[in-house]
Parts: sequence; structure tokens; C-alpha cells
Amino acid sequence: MSDIAAIQFSAYGGPDVLSMNRIAAPVARAGEVVVEVHAASVNPIDWKVRAGLLRNIIPVAFPMTTGRDGAGIISAAGDGVSPDRIGQRVCFLASRGVGTFAERIALPAALAVPIPDALTTPEAAALPLGGLSAWAALVSAAPVTAGMKVLIHAGAGGVGSMAIQLARHRGAYVAATCSAANVDFVKSLGADLPIAYDRDDFSKAIADVDVVFDTLGGDVHRKSYGVLRKGGTMVCLVAAPFEDEGAAHGVTVKVAQVLPDPDALTRLVELVAAGIVKPIVGKTLAFGDFAEAHRLSERGHGRGKIVVTRR
Ligand SMILES: NC(=O)c1ccc[n+]([C@@H]2O[C@H](COP(=O)([O-])OP(=O)(O)OC[C@H]3O[C@@H](n4cnc5c(N)ncnc54)[C@H](OP(=O)(O)O)[C@@H]3O)[C@@H](O)[C@H]2O)c1
Repeated sequence: MSDIAAIQFSAYGGPDVLSMNRIAAPVARAGEVVVEVHAASVNPIDWKVRAGLLRNIIPVAFPMTTGRDGAGIISAAGDGVSPDRIGQRVCFLASRGVGTFAERIALPAALAVPIPDALTTPEAAALPLGGLSAWAALVSAAPVTAGMKVLIHAGAGGVGSMAIQLARHRGAYVAATCSAANVDFVKSLGADLPIAYDRDDFSKAIADVDVVFDTLGGDVHRKSYGVLRKGGTMVCLVAAPFEDEGAAHGVTVKVAQVLPDPDALTRLVELVAAGIVKPIVGKTLAFGDFAEAHRLSERGHGRGKIVVTRR
């Protein structure tokens, strides 16, 4: 087959700029594999890029294929890659510019991380970007250790749901903000103190926090300085610029760098296989429902991840 289906956009705009196009089938160059994508997840970065909100930070070459992560089966191996890898189930975070909403993608073999039978393909597709974002923040940038008090904003979302589980696994006391509707869900993930942002003011509900994970920016960022202990850390994930008030509050502000880190993804897969953390698939849609998948993500009130599946 010389061409494949891919979900692309050729101009910035709403979900309607997305369309399913035929593009040249990828080939595995030296060191690469081709993966038949069976499921891919939607991340807020997908619609932010599509809408042009990040055009000054993330340049786009049109037509652009949407999507950053997913899961599937290796269908070809390039020079230098063991042919034994063909047929392996894998999940991946692709590099920027490689859209994963496609029938097949090519990527460096190292980025295709094997997944065990215990993990369904939609769960595996839900893991990479959400899990690696939580990892970049709470393991790499602001390492959480036993006994720490951690506040995770947007605990019900794709990143927050993984962050709660990771922080708990590392022995922290975990507070997390979410809507009142998601309090029980966030508790079920292991949060000790769910704080409903539409009912309570988080800045009055908790104090002396060691690490705040800011996934929201804006007012939430500004108010979060007040709940940190002196010497604490605010670790941020938002792409939008913010004013670093760390010095005035005696805290450190860090920005988590989310990269396609196969070692970290392997560790996450191991934690999932051991039953310690679980990627949350809040909604599954058919591959053809790509515009609806973007629309749902854009509403910003998902539980865990939205995943589109091809089979
Ligand atoms: N820079 C990076 O590399 C990077 C990587 C990953 C993610 N991000 C960013 O991180 C953010 C979160 O990503 P995600 O994948 O977790 O998004 P998501 O799955 O769409 O989740 C959004 C969550 O935000 C919650 N929320 C909305 N307003 C809130 C508030 N005022 N207080 C607390 N929670 C609130 C919602 O909870 P309710 O439904 O309960 O309202 C929802 O669960 C996005 O802005 C994304 O772009 C950045």
C-alpha cells in the first residue's frame, strides 16, 4: 500500500479544519520502525496547536497531522533494528511534528516502548504524554519523596490523574483540585484531600505544601504561591508565559520539560504492569470521530484521557 489515512489540518481554526486525508505511507529508515497505530490519545496540545494558540512557540508546517502519542504494532523495521521487533505491541510519544492520528507512523525504534499483555491498547495509548508530563514534573523537575505534601491542580485530567497516582506511589500526602463532580473520582485515584474548585477556595484548604504541580497557570498559578512552604517548589506545565514570583515568596519555580523519554516511559509501563498506576481512559471514540475528540478535549473537563481507536 502506498498511501495511508491521516487526520490533518491545513489552516488554523476550529475542529472543522480537521479532515481525513490520504498521505504517502511512511517507511522505516535506518534506526526506525513503522508502527501500525491502533489507538491514539487526544491531548490539549493537539487542539491548542490546531487553533493556532501556540503559533509563536510551536511552528507548524501545513498540512499538519494531529496527535502526539498512541499505541499499536510494529509493522516494519529499518536497517539496524532487529526484525524480531516486527509484531511487537508498543506505545510511544512521538517527536513534535510527527502526527500520530494516522494509520501508520515512522519513529526512532527506541521511542517505541513494548507493552505487556496486561495493558489494553487504548490504555497504552492513554499513557505516554499524560504519564510523561506527570513524570517530568514530579520525578524529574521536582522529585517527590515520601512524606512530602503535594498539591496537584486539575487532578481529574489526563496529566493530573497520572500525577496523583505517581505522587501517592512515591509516598506523598496528595491534595488535588477538581470540580465537585470529580471529587470521588480523584479520591479513587489516591488523593488524600480532593478540593472542589467550584465549591471551595484551595488557598484556604491547604498550607505548607512542599510541591505544587501547576497545570493551569493564570490565577491558579498566582494563588498557589500562598500555599507553598518557604523553600517549596512550584513546577509548571503550562505553555503560556507566567510571571515567576518565586523569589518574593521564597520558593523555587520550575518548568517541566516533557520529552519523548523512552526510559521514563518504560518505567511508567512497568508501574502500570505492576498494578501501581493505571492510565485512565475516560472516553473512547472511533478514529473517524477525530473532530468530536478534539471538541471534547477542548471543553477541558475530561476524566482521564480521550482515546480514538482504529480497531
Ligand atoms: N507543556 C507541556 O509539555 C504539557 C504537557 C502536557 C499537558 N500540558 C498542559 O497541561 C494542562 C492539563 O493537561 P491535561 O492533559 O491533564 O488536560 P485535560 O485532560 O483536558 O484535563 C483538564 C482538567 O482540568 C480540570 N480543571 C479545569 N479547570 C480547573 C480548575 N480551575 N481547577 C482545577 N482543575 C480544573 C478539569 O477538571 P474538571 O473536569 O473536574 O473540571 C479537567 O479534568 C493543559 O493545559 C495542557 O496543555 C502541557
